[in-house]
Amino acid sequence: LNYQVPRTRKEIFETLVKGLQRLEYRGYDSAGIAVDGPNKTTSDINSNTICLIKKTGKVKALDEELYKKDTLDLDEELCTHFGIAHTRWATHGEPSALNSHPHRSDKDNEFVVIHNGIITNYKELREYLINKGYEFESETDTEVIPKLIKYIYDNRESDSISFSTLVERVIQQLEGAFALVFKSRHFPGEAVSTRRGSPLLIGVRSEHELSTEHIPVQYNSGHFKEGVQEKNSHNRPDCSNAIDSVGDGRAVEYYFASDASAIIEHTNKVLYLEDNDIAVVSGGKLSIHRLKRQAGEDPVRAIQTLQMEMQQIMKGNFEAFMQKEIFEQPESVVNTMRGRICFDSNTVVLGGLKDHLKEIKRCRRLIMIGCGTSFHAAVATRQILEELTELPVMVELASDFLDRNTPVFRDDVCFFISQSGETADTLMALRYCKDQGALTVGITNTVGSSICRETVCGVHINAGPEIGVASTKAYTSQYVALIMFGLMMSEDRLSLQNRRQEIINGLRVLPELIKEVLSVDEKIKAIANELYQQRSLLVMGRGYNYATCLEGALKIKEITYMHSEGILAGELKHGPLALVDKHMPVIMIIMRDACYTKCQNALQQITARSGRPIILCCQGDSEVTKNAYQTIELPQTVDCLQGILSVIPLQLLSFQLAVLRGYDVDCPRNLAKSVTVE
Ligand code: G6P
Repeated sequence: LNYQVPRTRKEIFETLVKGLQRLEYRGYDSAGIAVDGPNKTTSDINSNTICLIKKTGKVKALDEELYKKDTLDLDEELCTHFGIAHTRWATHGEPSALNSHPHRSDKDNEFVVIHNGIITNYKELREYLINKGYEFESETDTEVIPKLIKYIYDNRESDSISFSTLVERVIQQLEGAFALVFKSRHFPGEAVSTRRGSPLLIGVRSEHELSTEHIPVQYNSGHFKEGVQEKNSHNRPDCSNAIDSVGDGRAVEYYFASDASAIIEHTNKVLYLEDNDIAVVSGGKLSIHRLKRQAGEDPVRAIQTLQMEMQQIMKGNFEAFMQKEIFEQPESVVNTMRGRICFDSNTVVLGGLKDHLKEIKRCRRLIMIGCGTSFHAAVATRQILEELTELPVMVELASDFLDRNTPVFRDDVCFFISQSGETADTLMALRYCKDQGALTVGITNTVGSSICRETVCGVHINAGPEIGVASTKAYTSQYVALIMFGLMMSEDRLSLQNRRQEIINGLRVLPELIKEVLSVDEKIKAIANELYQQRSLLVMGRGYNYATCLEGALKIKEITYMHSEGILAGELKHGPLALVDKHMPVIMIIMRDACYTKCQNALQQITARSGRPIILCCQGDSEVTKNAYQTIELPQTVDCLQGILSVIPLQLLSFQLAVLRGYDVDCPRNLAKSVTVE
């Protein structure tokens, strides 16, 4: 939303489409846009129009569609203008233009809305509104929102009702999770946005230094009870403390987005909205409102400066973001360790945890909770954390943890591992553990994310933005961060000093070893050529490398759509062996660690059934190679770090398989990078 700088409609389209493209990894089954239509000359509602363009498929399809509208003058200059755009990942209703956002209140587009999240009470609201005569055109949960705001508007008690008051009343009726941005013909040039449970940030770009570093929150303190407005409530937002972009002729642009990567090319000044905040830009001023102040609540929203750089989210010379991110791992693990490990004194300091270390050391157990790849990082480090902390360590999939109403105690320490910091299941598990009084620790890659804000303390893994839907560098950085936590916990344990020394030495050379592993790419390509037409692929291992099997199989499923299973080699005889014959491709991970002999036994069982195993093993292991159909040799490192190296060939293999099968690696069908719905 720009104030006082005229922009052509074409420029507005370009800004919105570019923003969507940067967010496309979050969802990409359809996309839509709403901008001011033609003849916007006065504030008369009849001359304000909103033009809505929606298209199924990727953002590119929407982009092409925009320029087909010959009714829209692309060169028309708009002074104060406000456009919204959205890319969808279907939850309710199939991917189609009708189901995509923005959704509208009526055929005249009086109110249009974009929404991330899920409205759980949409059925009741829909029924209520249908009874009131409102006609629905999509199968989505979202559509109740524009209908509801129009209903409230149509039944307003006064003509001077403000846009933010309408939104405030809408969200009082909504249950579930949402980040919303509203646009209306009745309030031209005005933007209202709000959130509960789903992320939303506002970028502020100004030609001059901003006159403030934070926005004070304004409280309406109980003006609205059960949707009825009390007397004397101010209808217009009080903007006296807001960022003031008018009066002295300065121009400010505001960007609402669910993720900083959408706006970083315009500004690195952002503020994050809290649940139930209502942000309004009106007359070029940004202000933030809430119903009433809760105890202990921060009364200001700070404007932060993001460190993210544009080049970090550009693909460079790589074919896909995923490939770029795989090859970034020698640097991303260094960034995770940077400034935290002192290799001379063998000490590790995680700044975000140090004030809570005593409390953590006194705990009864550690519980690590996550989804998908983040869960696998917990599985991968469980054994070494048990060894270094001498505490029981539980690993939990967030959804299952919640389904079981798992008992949690005040003296538990709960880790929430999440690349995005926004995964709904993980976030709900966090809130659950908080309610039980446990100490909560976030391990995230996204500064300012919900998980990092709602946990008591934590570690940023600093892997840099991860765009490919299939997580790669975040996994290895989560792994390293959790190992560093174990090292920090064991600093004063005399009996563990040799072990610590060994691991720290291993971490020091890790980036070099990762580079060495990446050089197997050509060999992997050859193996991928043999495998890409297969339907199934088993990945087998045990001990420290079991997590690698799970993670490798997940990568293969996610982007190649082949069936793939990570199998604990110890369970081979209890079922999976029935799958093995000369046709079934099996990848086995056999490293020189405590499970070496047991893994060799499993290998014998595979070869005895005419299986043709592809083996990931340590360099120069002639014993294993002689039974292999193919081998991928890796440098050996400390047992508990080996999984960081052994996962990389599987990341590369899944990438090569997906390319050979002709799929879009960064946007696998049906998946989204950040799953902010339950
Ligand atoms: C989605 C993504 C996965 C990711 C998982 C957890 O399913 O597609 O790649 O591992 O969410 O995401 P988080 O951001 O919490 O690590």
